[in-house]
Amino acid sequence: MKIGYLQNEPIFGEKKKNFEDVRQLIKSIKTDLLVLPELFATGYTFTSAEEARNLAEKKDGATATYLKEISLQIEGTVIGGFIELEDDKVYNALLIVSKGKVIDTYKKIHLFNRENLWFTPGDEAPKVYKIDGVKIGVMICFDWIFPETCRSLALQGMQVLAHPSNLVLPHCQSAMITRCLENRIFAVTANRIGNELRGGDEFSFTGKSQITSWNGKTLTTATEDKVGVGIIEIDEKEANNKQINAFNDLIKNRRSNLYDL
Ligand code: ACM
Repeated sequence: MKIGYLQNEPIFGEKKKNFEDVRQLIKSIKTDLLVLPELFATGYTFTSAEEARNLAEKKDGATATYLKEISLQIEGTVIGGFIELEDDKVYNALLIVSKGKVIDTYKKIHLFNRENLWFTPGDEAPKVYKIDGVKIGVMICFDWIFPETCRSLALQGMQVLAHPSNLVLPHCQSAMITRCLENRIFAVTANRIGNELRGGDEFSFTGKSQITSWNGKTLTTATEDKVGVGIIEIDEKEANNKQINAFNDLIKNRRSNLYDL
């Protein structure tokens, strides 16, 4: 299958322009899976909870409509971040959209820094979705620093991790090598670039979107300062083999009774 990331540079609050910029980057690309960054159409650095609420949408809102079009255009699945409004609560979330249909949303469970002022943390475990025979798991940005997130998805049979991000620390890209090695999965980390100085915060986003293989190899990396798309062909079935050698299987060798703290 073909999997890819799109790295963009959204202008804060300008959804229509940001949608159009992403459309320009996609052009005539066809891929089975395309991962867009966290909050790819809104920007990241809010100055109040009200500002985030004003940019929030229901799961059938404008971003869902847009991603449905994009998924039809690429003839595959697109996964990207948005602000979800559900039951009057505001979440940092992502949409999973395949061939014109919304499959689900995931609400980020580990909020970073002042996100805690704007968003309610999700309280549902991230899930794995079987789409066109491929088991795709999801998490959002800072979820990476809690290895349990990725492991719980691997235990559900995940082959490919979709990881929309707005990374501001320099560690994630190399940490994803470990996440992939310890779970023997493929991962697509889609990051953004640029700088946002709003309210009391200034963030520089680190780019370097990355596709990482089950064996710890980085298959493709974006630059730290240019928008673009990276697509690679993989055999997702390689992620099914958790056997490292004759004695060691990454899942079967777990001593979960000893980790119960
Ligand atoms: C982050 O979770 N966006 C750092």
